[in-house]
Amino acid sequence: MKLLVTGGAGFIGSYFIKYMLQKYSDYKIVNLDLLTYAGNLETLKDADTNVNYKFVKGNIVDKVFVEDLFEKEQFDVVVNFAAESHVDRSVSDPNVFVKTNIMGTQVLLDVARKYNILRYHQISTDEVYGDLPLDRPDLFFMENTPLNPSSPYSASKAAADLLVIAYQRTYNIPVTLSRCSNNYGPYHFPEKLIPLIITRAITNQAIPVYGDGLNVRDWIYVEDHCSAIDCILHNGKEGEIYNIGSHDERSNLEVVKTILKELNKPETLIAFVKNRPGHDLRYAIDSSKLHKELGWGPKCNFEEGIKKTIKWYVENESWWQSIISGEYMNYYKKQYQINI
Ligand code: NAD
Ligand code: DAU
Repeated sequence: MKLLVTGGAGFIGSYFIKYMLQKYSDYKIVNLDLLTYAGNLETLKDADTNVNYKFVKGNIVDKVFVEDLFEKEQFDVVVNFAAESHVDRSVSDPNVFVKTNIMGTQVLLDVARKYNILRYHQISTDEVYGDLPLDRPDLFFMENTPLNPSSPYSASKAAADLLVIAYQRTYNIPVTLSRCSNNYGPYHFPEKLIPLIITRAITNQAIPVYGDGLNVRDWIYVEDHCSAIDCILHNGKEGEIYNIGSHDERSNLEVVKTILKELNKPETLIAFVKNRPGHDLRYAIDSSKLHKELGWGPKCNFEEGIKKTIKWYVENESWWQSIISGEYMNYYKKQYQINI
């Protein structure tokens, strides 16, 4: 079995590659990644020596390049993680989100169609459903919840989902699609909430919380997301959409306070800042379809996962220090409008 994993130098894609290489010693994996600001080959150094693994630098939007790669490698399966993934960046510059997330998906689908692959799997997100009210804890996103994205990021992911579904219907491509809730774990880029809190708390810096901090996210440990994708690839039904989640909802403020407590840092580090435009109130995913039909369930709860994650950041400071000391600092200053 030969897999093309796109976006494999990012947070979740890199975890998935390592997970699959370890679990299936006879699978070959090619990682196609553009190495944008979010891609980091350091994250994959454990995989480098594996003869079943190969890295190729390239852009999923470049059809000639992608077609060439398919011709050379003859993939059986494609798993598309490659995306611009940060909501705040999509608010300040939507353009690249449309290119990579929509046009890139279309290129992959076109080429996958030409090469008759066994499965195309699209990594989507619960954000395509929009948000839920804070005062209705009984409501959850189901696979048939209407798409109602709020940000340029989630709109681009929703558009990509629609293309995947349309290609299946029109060209009969064997697709599956999964929509997962908020991931956390090692090697998470420090622009996202959890790694941002951990790295800034370790360095005793203010922690920016948008609005009143009461927005709710449904957190899943990255390994559980990867095991769900593995399960869908092997047992999922063609043309189906699967929600992935852990039922671990917390407000942002709860998450911040938990991390500060674990690191023994004062809550005075919390700084309430201007809200994110269009900020989604609550995400909560129902993944009972995946559980009932394919027998998948998460293994790691938030209490355990956050401890493991904090420990990893404490022990791997060189990985994130090299990120936050570079171009990232300009992004941070611009995003949070501070002059330090
Ligand atoms: P990430 O930003 O950490 O990684 C994205 C990777 O894609 C990077 O390595 C980047 O270099 C690569 N990439 C970007 N543009 C590319 C292009 N044009 N061609 C090739 N490679 C390109 O993202 P992540 O958090 O690992 O998310 C991966 C996928 O999972 C995304 O599709 C995202 O929408 C989805 N997702 C993320 C979460 C989450 O909580 N992080 C939850 C649900 C779904
Ligand atoms: O739900 C899945 C999605 O989760 C993925 O599709 C996205 O790729 C991923 O980035 C994530 O999106 P969010 O917008 O939920 O994640 P983020 O870490 O940016 O923010 C989490 C919450 O924390 C959100 O309510 C905004 C808030 N926040 C975020 C940052 C960066 C703050 O309060 N302060 C911050 O500085």
